[in-house]
Amino acid sequence: MEELQKKRMLSGIQPSGDLHLGNYLGAIKNWADRVNDYECFYFMADLHTITVRQDPAELRKRSINQLAQYIACGLDPEQNVLFLQSHVPAHSQLAWVLNCYTMFGELSRMTQFKDKSAKYENNINAGLFTYPVLMAADILLYQPDYVPVGEDQKQHVEICRDIAQRFNSIYGDVFKIPEPLIAKTGARIYGLSTPGDKMSKSVPDGCVFLMDSPDDIRRKFKRAVTDSDRENCVRYDKENKPGVANLMNIYATLTGKTIPEIEAEFAGQGYGVFKPAVGEAVVEALRPIREEAERLMKDKAYLNEVYLKGAEKASYVANKTLRKVYKKVGFYQI
Ligand code: TYM
Repeated sequence: MEELQKKRMLSGIQPSGDLHLGNYLGAIKNWADRVNDYECFYFMADLHTITVRQDPAELRKRSINQLAQYIACGLDPEQNVLFLQSHVPAHSQLAWVLNCYTMFGELSRMTQFKDKSAKYENNINAGLFTYPVLMAADILLYQPDYVPVGEDQKQHVEICRDIAQRFNSIYGDVFKIPEPLIAKTGARIYGLSTPGDKMSKSVPDGCVFLMDSPDDIRRKFKRAVTDSDRENCVRYDKENKPGVANLMNIYATLTGKTIPEIEAEFAGQGYGVFKPAVGEAVVEALRPIREEAERLMKDKAYLNEVYLKGAEKASYVANKTLRKVYKKVGFYQI
């Protein structure tokens, strides 16, 4: 009997910094859980990183180390196509075409562009502005059904859908219209020291990196900002106790426990018990990942081989879509 065709999933992370708990809980953990039900493509979005200045040696190093960390998080390269974005030229090629089908006005409304142009006011380059178009190309090349991302990337998947629909309305059904897939818990992890802002590498003190040592993780959780009402009670109240709610969310995502179960577990115990307990859960969840990533990082030959095979498989799928697009827009083919 013919095997039913699996639905397809695609996502990526920029190797602009070390992977952190937000990337893991908001994205990678959900990817690794899905491998049996979907055909999966995951990549390192290195082309995107240069919208902000990068140290070339660091970028090179992170691009290979991130692959080791993807694999250590459970993404088996035999079952998932893992690749580096710049190894598949079709991403840049489709991005140019889609640039001509994307409006200045819609790019101006992107929250991330507004945030980043405020943050990097001396380098508001065209790439920063057209970033969502490259991301649309990343996605549409693979005709995926779903794009699993954290909440902050939802707007980018939405503009990708708009661009695809615009293109399809002119040329017929060229692109599949993908759905963003946002996890129920973990989709937005906040910084431990700044619970009003999403966890990000730019605030390293409140950011837990996958490669952090257990002691560093424990220290960061011990210092985590809870709340200023001195209630000292583990109760979920996102509005008034965002720091506690964030820690509960992390704990829930890692342990699979519900919020009422967590409230019951820590009833009458206060933050002095709760914060180290969350820290310990994170230490234990990240320990096997860190150890496996450290082992893999030493095996450059293996990682290079994974990248080579990944680029080959990804290019096959991507070039098929690119050829179709070139034909539709009228580029002469030999
Ligand atoms: P990036 O590299 O900023 O983040 C990668 C993934 O991690 C999620 N994430 C978070 N989730 C929860 N809490 C947080 N604090 C947190 N921080 C990050 C992000 O939502 C994302 O899923 N533009 C993308 C990369 C990209 C991409 C793509 C993604 C390029 N092309 C195509 C999907 C499909 C980005 O900068 O993500």
